[in-house]
This record gives sequence, structure tokens and C-alpha cells, in this order.
Amino acid sequence: MKNLILPPASFRTLYAFGNKQAIDLSLSENPLGCSLEVIRVMKEITQIDCFDYPDPDSNLIRVDLAQRFKLSLKNFFISNGSESLIQLLPRVLMSKGEEAIVPVLTFPMFEKSVALAGGIVIQSPMTSDFSIDLIDIKEKISKETKIIFLCNPNNPTGKLLAKKDILQLVKNTKAFVIVDEANIEFGGESVISEVANFDNLIVLRTFSKGFGLAGLRVGFCVANPQGVNLLQMIAQPFAVNKFAQKAVIAALNDQVFMNKTRKFMVKERCFLTRELKKMSFEVVDSEANNLLVKVTPLFLSSNDFVEKLADLNVSVVNGTAFPVLGNDFVRVSPRTRKINKKFIEVISNILNI
Ligand SMILES: Cc1ncc(COP(=O)(O)O)c(C=O)c1O
Repeated sequence: MKNLILPPASFRTLYAFGNKQAIDLSLSENPLGCSLEVIRVMKEITQIDCFDYPDPDSNLIRVDLAQRFKLSLKNFFISNGSESLIQLLPRVLMSKGEEAIVPVLTFPMFEKSVALAGGIVIQSPMTSDFSIDLIDIKEKISKETKIIFLCNPNNPTGKLLAKKDILQLVKNTKAFVIVDEANIEFGGESVISEVANFDNLIVLRTFSKGFGLAGLRVGFCVANPQGVNLLQMIAQPFAVNKFAQKAVIAALNDQVFMNKTRKFMVKERCFLTRELKKMSFEVVDSEANNLLVKVTPLFLSSNDFVEKLADLNVSVVNGTAFPVLGNDFVRVSPRTRKINKKFIEVISNILNI
């Protein structure tokens, strides 16, 4: 155990597990569940799906995605969740001592993965409205910059980056720009089709959020074919099991479910924002599935707010999970109207409104 390199903090602390209560607004997955087509396909599973190894390249999914995005199959790498890609990419793309620029308020795993790969994290502060600051990022690019992480829509703010602004950055740097589009089904415009035009653009997607398949663990990376090749060489060989491969195809084909999801999220996000603002909370304007809510001065701190909610069987993500936020914010993810209403009721009871 002498030479064990410990991560800066456990990856387990980056997710909201362990704190879930009956009224759970900590989950940012699809409140509508998943497509019923997925369940239908799962019911048709036979013995061969269990005893035979899965296709190591998940080619059924690659062919489907290549057609959908009008790219080559060689542009797609399918993985066991996109989290595994976030861990792999810095190891593949950068050497010890090289730099990665990471917005200071985003999915914390980007920083951890860079640190684990021996890279140096260059933090970019947010703009005054909590958006990713592309001007600041451009100014921070140096000869040592190997990776720039962007998250669109951003977690935990739900803020969007415009496609043209992302591409402007990609055009003006030699660094790899990794755009994590984990929550794109809830808002924003994808840059996937641009991978054909820019060798330094890498896009990450997951089936965990909009598609509601977090339990099956499937994500994918869109990159130039050499990048995909590198990932294939070092990734575990049978990362995506057979059930998950079949389920993903069914989910991709159910466009009705996805349209319903997008409309549903807009309605519930607006409902929660309006109701929280009525109670004098500051809510950062979001265009996706996460709402950043300032809880002070109505409560002593985010810890105080989270504890009071937990006593009443409600969970949200404490903003302390995102170090730059201090002890003032929580992240709330809209659920069904019934749960959202209960959440608002519980808070108004605490506040005696
Ligand atoms: C922005 C972002 N990227 C990636 C992930 C990882 O998703 P998964 O590993 O389930 O594909 C998450 C999960 O919360 C996320 O919020």
C-alpha cells in the first residue's frame, strides 16, 4: 500500500447519495422515469443476453448515433456512464504538470479527474450572473493548456452556453475543449455535429438524465477517430452490458417521451422558480433541470436549511458540495408537480408563511 496515490476527495462525495428522503429534489434525473419502450425490451431478454459477452464496442448504439448525428461510427465511444469518460480523458489527453482550465462552479468531477491525472487545474471564475465566463477562459489559455472543460447546460446552475460562443473558443485554441452535455435534453443546443469540423472538440453525453437510464450506466463520447481509438485501447473491454445496449436503442427511438420530458421540465422549473421567489428566495435563472437557490438570509446557512428539510423528509443538494458556493446555496432539481408542491408547502410551514 506504500505507493498508493489517493484522490483529493472521494468521488462518492460528488453525488447526492446517502441523503435521499421521501420528498427528494436532490435527483437531477428525469422526473418522468424512462420510456416504457425500454421496459418492454427488457422483458424480452433471453439466456444469451446473460451468458454471452456483450459487444465491446456497443456497435448497435454507435451505428444508431452515427446516423442520428450524421457522423461516422468512428466518432463514437460508448462507455459505462459518462462519469467514466470524465475520469479517462485527462489521463489520455494530458501529462503530469500540464494544465486544464475548469470553471470554478461546475460538476466537481472535472477538477478531481484532472488532479488524479497529475494535471494542474486552472480555475476560471463565473460571471456575475453565475454563467461560465468564456472571455476569462480565453485569457487563461497558455502553452501548457491541454484541456478546457465546459458543461452545457451547466450543473448546478442550469445556465446555457451559446453554440456559436463554444465554437469560437474551439476555433481559437489548440487545447481539447471537452463539452459535457449530460443535461442537454432539458435545454440548450448540442455541438455534437461540429466534431466533424474540429479535431479538438470532444462532447460527452449520458443516458442517465433526460433518458432516465441512470441505473443502466451508459454514456458516450463524440470525438475525432484517433481520440476514440485511444479510449478504446485503455478502457475496460466490456464496459456496457447487453441489457443496457438494447435499452439504449429503445430509448433513442422514443422521441415522444423526450418531447414530453422537455415540456414537462420547463413547466416544473417555472413553477418552482415562481413559488420560491414568492417566498423571497433568490433563484438563479435556469434553462435546464437544476436550480441554484440562495437560502440565506431566510435561513442561517445552507446546512441549517438542509437539516431543517431533512427533519421533514425532504432532500436537496447542499451547495457546500460545490466549494466556491460556501454555505449559502442549495441545488434543487424539479420533480413531479405533487412532489414540488409538497416541497413548497414544507418550506412555507417552516417559514410560517
Ligand atoms: C454534468 C454531469 N456530467 C456527468 C455526470 C455523470 O453522469 P453518468 O455517469 O450517470 O453518465 C453527471 C451526473 O450527475 C453530471 O451532472
